[in-house]
Amino acid sequence: MASVTCTLLLLMCCCCLYISLLAEAANNVTYDKRSLIIDGERKLLISAAIHYPRSVPAMWPGLVKAAKEGGVDVIETYVFWNGHEPSPGNYYFGGRYDLVKFVKIVQDAGMLLILRIGPFVAAEWNFGGIPVWLHYVPGTVFRTDNEPFKHYMQNFTTLIVNMMKQDKFFASQGGPIILAQVENEYGFYEGAYGEGGKTYTQWAAKMALSQNTGVPWIMCQQWDAPDPVINTCNSFYCDDFKPSYPTMPKIWTENWPGWFKTFGGRNPHRPAEDVAFSVARFFQKGGSVHNYYMYHGGTNFGRTSGGPFITTSYDYDAPIDEYGLPRFPKWGHLKELHRAIKLCEHALLNNEPTLIHLGAQLEADVYEDKLGNCAAFIANIDDKNEKTVQFRNASYTLPAWSVSILPDCKNVVFNTAKVGCQTSTIEMVPEQLQPSTSSPNKDLKAESWQIFVEKTGIWGEPDFTRNGFVDHINTTKDTTDYLWHTTSLHVDENDGSKLKLVIESKGHALHAFVNGVLQASAAGNGTVSPFNFTSPVSLKAGENEIAVLSMTVGLQNAGSFYEWVGAGLTSLKLKGLKNGTLDLSNNKWSYKIGLEGEHNSLYDAGAPNKNWNSVSEPPKNQPLTWYKAIVDAPPGDEPIALDMVHMGKGLAWLNGEQIGRYWPRKAPNDKCVKECDYRGKFNPDKCNTGCGEPSQRWYHVPRSWFKPTGNVLVIFEEKGGDPTQIRFSRRILSTLCAHVSDDHPSFAINDLQKNKVSLELKCPMDKHISSFTFASYGTPTGTCQSYVIGNCHDPDSRSVVEKLCLNKNECVVELSKENFKIELCPGITKKLSVEATCS
Ligand code: GAL
Repeated sequence: MASVTCTLLLLMCCCCLYISLLAEAANNVTYDKRSLIIDGERKLLISAAIHYPRSVPAMWPGLVKAAKEGGVDVIETYVFWNGHEPSPGNYYFGGRYDLVKFVKIVQDAGMLLILRIGPFVAAEWNFGGIPVWLHYVPGTVFRTDNEPFKHYMQNFTTLIVNMMKQDKFFASQGGPIILAQVENEYGFYEGAYGEGGKTYTQWAAKMALSQNTGVPWIMCQQWDAPDPVINTCNSFYCDDFKPSYPTMPKIWTENWPGWFKTFGGRNPHRPAEDVAFSVARFFQKGGSVHNYYMYHGGTNFGRTSGGPFITTSYDYDAPIDEYGLPRFPKWGHLKELHRAIKLCEHALLNNEPTLIHLGAQLEADVYEDKLGNCAAFIANIDDKNEKTVQFRNASYTLPAWSVSILPDCKNVVFNTAKVGCQTSTIEMVPEQLQPSTSSPNKDLKAESWQIFVEKTGIWGEPDFTRNGFVDHINTTKDTTDYLWHTTSLHVDENDGSKLKLVIESKGHALHAFVNGVLQASAAGNGTVSPFNFTSPVSLKAGENEIAVLSMTVGLQNAGSFYEWVGAGLTSLKLKGLKNGTLDLSNNKWSYKIGLEGEHNSLYDAGAPNKNWNSVSEPPKNQPLTWYKAIVDAPPGDEPIALDMVHMGKGLAWLNGEQIGRYWPRKAPNDKCVKECDYRGKFNPDKCNTGCGEPSQRWYHVPRSWFKPTGNVLVIFEEKGGDPTQIRFSRRILSTLCAHVSDDHPSFAINDLQKNKVSLELKCPMDKHISSFTFASYGTPTGTCQSYVIGNCHDPDSRSVVEKLCLNKNECVVELSKENFKIELCPGITKKLSVEATCS
């Protein structure tokens, strides 16, 4: 990866010292007002959230490695109660939920861990992580002074703590866990619960402390967390945050380096420069533990996403993308930032800062001790203008909204707004589905599609019949997304030809059928679930069946009393009849929970084949259809996604593994940006892309789910699509670009090494640099994929970079006189721009 070189010696020393410190098992974690103190030593910690069920075990070692290479010391994860306890007392810790395995991988990598047990977690995770069954334990109210809730919460917390103790995972036992969290951002909602809220907070803290983990507990956004539980900050910026007690360190549990997406929403991005700015400001202002939420967001497989409407992708624009590959330039820029901050660690943690105002919106914080160790952070908070400042008899120019880091109070090794690392272009390369010639099961016929068409309305016997509507969630208890409602009505010969169906729903989505024909589909918007709509409808003279398939799309995951938010139909009327409007809301309705295909486990790769019918061509635009194909794995080793842009809405599986909900629902056409201005305060709507495009087109299918051949792909399509257009797409990094100038901040702070600015290139996985489509040392202009040679150009540029980089996975090109004609065009700042391909 990118940018500038550290003096080799300096880098080697800090690295060995650093690795040896972390690889040693921790034993004693305490804190004071400045930092955590691990085995007697103050620590400045960079932490990265990676949620274990949002990827697969085969990806975990690579994710942890990529975090470590990115300069991260600590992995942070929530614990996902509803994944671990699907029904009361029935526990699951296998597959993606193998928490012990995940912690071991972190430990084996010589890294530390923050365990946010919650067990309420929010996290855009179904029901905020609390099992839905708990809502139906009589008398339960979540997250307040309520006996059943407290009983189950304590039970689960104790189970997790004991499990961690058993493997000696707490630092106090020599393991990697240095902090544990109870609850999550309850401070925002405590007031809504009155006295019960306050009592609950105190109870939760006490219950946590009584677990005797031997490591400190934290509560985020919990201003009344009792000593010794540490209140921590969650926000896009936490430089102004003050711990609740003067004895406590300043900890940032959630710095959001991007944001999540909803079906029908735009695609949010947070620029790397602003993320780096927020992190640098935090450490400038006395912070000592910082966590990226998320560092790898991953995927909400199956029906795990919260909501309503959180997408299956939880990419989050995080430094590691959904597929597990470093995202450039974000990952690389933050890696450089971490390196710069770590060079300041000793000076930062052992001195009081002196704040120096260098002008309007210009602040230097200087950390200096009597021995002469000195580190300074200089910030230009002006969100428009570059500024030049005088500091200790030297002059420094800072771009707008940026922080320069000077680990020796003299040399700038990093500026948050100057990105020197590579960028990359990603392509999703489609592959036709390759029918397998072999089949996993002698009953399954390969080389063709098989289908199963759901009956419209009640299949089999109704689960119950009653007058009026029920709450959707109280009825399905989230065992499925789907709930059928049917009723019938008689229409006279002459009873209006311009009929309209008027439906109101508490959420989340529905399809309305009349006499087996899909009439309309509707859904709430954003994260607002209620909706209503009017649609023309055709009825025949005589008996008509109205069938409504109501769906949930991820349960509410935050807010006060969120577990009581319902979903489903509240009113259904027919307008335009001879006698006016007919309200069918209190009609006799028959109900069926779930689909017949779900009942028959059609998604299960090994399920008997009796329900499926072979077809030579799969039907298109047909609602309520299950499709099955037996396919080969796509070639290569790149990450794979299922391209569902030609499908409607539904669920997908591969080999019985749940890919998740798909819904290529389009984002609105407005409020996107072409270029994102990193300057100024970020909010999730600031830098959106994807206007008018499906919020999610590609659905991650982990490589480890594939066999070379005979893979069972199952799709349930609700409203109609074209399955012949389904593709696996390979995620391929097509182009690498980098450009860095002679005067870029350099880690070479030793005078002898001055001006050894360098540019680094790295291909993903084990790919190699196969060609250079552009290389110029001089005054090239333009941006990636449109670089142009300038007036000043070293004609040997290309041969130099080819010699150093071709056929290598990574390479470093120094902007030195050995490599380039640095004497060219004197007096002009020159730069090196390159564009390369990996294969
Ligand atoms: C926080 C919450 C996290 C997550 C985040 C947004 O408020 O603690 O769990 O939901 O917001 O991604």
